[in-house]
Amino acid sequence: MNVDLRILRYDPEPPSVALAEGTPSAGVAAGTPSAGVAAGTPSAGAAELTGRPSTPPKPHWVTYQVEADPMDRVLDLLIKVKAEQDGSLSFRRSCGHGICGSDAMLINSRNRLACRIRVDQLGKKISVAPLPGLPVVKDLVVEMSGFFSKYRSVKPYLINDQPEPERERLQSAKDRARYDDTTKCILCAACTSSCPSFWARPEYVGPAAIVQAHRFIFDSRDEGAAERLEILADEDGVWRCRTIFNCVEACPRGINITRAILEVSGAIVGRRG
Ligand code: SF4
Ligand code: FES
Repeated sequence: MNVDLRILRYDPEPPSVALAEGTPSAGVAAGTPSAGVAAGTPSAGAAELTGRPSTPPKPHWVTYQVEADPMDRVLDLLIKVKAEQDGSLSFRRSCGHGICGSDAMLINSRNRLACRIRVDQLGKKISVAPLPGLPVVKDLVVEMSGFFSKYRSVKPYLINDQPEPERERLQSAKDRARYDDTTKCILCAACTSSCPSFWARPEYVGPAAIVQAHRFIFDSRDEGAAERLEILADEDGVWRCRTIFNCVEACPRGINITRAILEVSGAIVGRRG
């Protein structure tokens, strides 16, 4: 079958380059104003490549006709386009099987993993855009450093200063079940980037970071709950959640994110009471 694959592409301007006087310039005549260097700019005798686009990438839709099998995933189509039609198309992917979380995108207006959603689930017209609410680097690649710094801010690791036991820290099946749901998170950012509270206030720590905090707050072996709850009681913490449920719909792992957020806010209130 033939599929119309519409991709929202963002082509950044070439990086700005500063050329020193006398530097052999690749195709730029001496004195050409487009070289990005004001006359007399003190440059240290070598071309300086800033590595950043001089202007934000500009979006435009491009439609590719792709021969596809109904069981192909959107990731298969993207790989095909890159291999056969346009090698400049940029997107992230790694495992190809819903585990690494690197290929979350806005597919037919919903955040999903490109490696999980199939053509037979979407039809012959498929649109793909980068995750909303995050800065675009190029095409379907978004800037994730802010997302990961929020993740790190909730201390997503076991905190326990007690002497290590000889073999392992034991836990009952019931205690393990308490946070089982939130262990499934693959940090794909589909939830945070679908959240209107995050769009309105990018400082909001976001559902993904709260899910990661929940995983440790309710772990019976962990002793860092008080620190994490204090962080999440901040003005950009859990109280920004308006229980809109976009996150739950977006999560490719089926995590009940809103319930996790409510459990964390309940724990904050419980400690204060
Ligand atoms: S909670 Fe779900 S949607 Fe959010 S980052 Fe984790 S896996 Fe992705
Ligand atoms: S490529 Fe790893 S989750 Fe899709």
